[in-house]
Amino acid sequence: MSSNNKYEALYRESRDVCGTPFPEFAAFFDVYEKEHANVLDLGRGQGRDALMVAQHGHRVLGVDISKTGIRQMLEDARREDLEIVGVVADIAEYEIGESYDVVILDRVLHLFEENARIRVLSRALPQVIPNGFVLIADMPSNKPALQRVFDEAHTHGLR
Ligand SMILES: C[S@@+](CC[C@H](N)C(=O)[O-])C[C@H]1O[C@@H](n2cnc3c(N)ncnc32)[C@H](O)[C@@H]1O
Repeated sequence: MSSNNKYEALYRESRDVCGTPFPEFAAFFDVYEKEHANVLDLGRGQGRDALMVAQHGHRVLGVDISKTGIRQMLEDARREDLEIVGVVADIAEYEIGESYDVVILDRVLHLFEENARIRVLSRALPQVIPNGFVLIADMPSNKPALQRVFDEAHTHGLR
């Protein structure tokens, strides 16, 4: 995917391409009551969310196609002794092996064309535990199609 090259180059130039986590994501984890939750961060980048989530005491698996982003994030995680695992993979193909309390898709879905975007979300939803959470930051114009994925999953008894 061409976006990979773009982010690979950006991450090599700077350790802080995306800045601090969105306040809405930070606020969610400030009040999320479950302890030691299993969190999956798809398209994790340099790990701004993964680090914040792990600082709350949760376990995070982050997947990104950028080797540099994953490496930088793991260096930060080691320095802070945080429970984060990193996998370099294309999230369009990555087989999500376990169930997660929370799945994060932060500014990554808009990088896919619509069918692929819907497929990424559709493959992730069955891996979220009942009453779990999916946190998405994306283009407002993509929201109706993403909402339909949730509606369909609900109709088929996933949520
Ligand atoms: C705008 S950045 C967002 C990074 C991170 N979620 C954040 O909010 O800080 C988009 C990320 O998606 C990753 N990405 C793009 N296409 C991908 C794919 N097919 N599979 C995995 N990661 C991908 C890029 O490498 C980049 O790290």
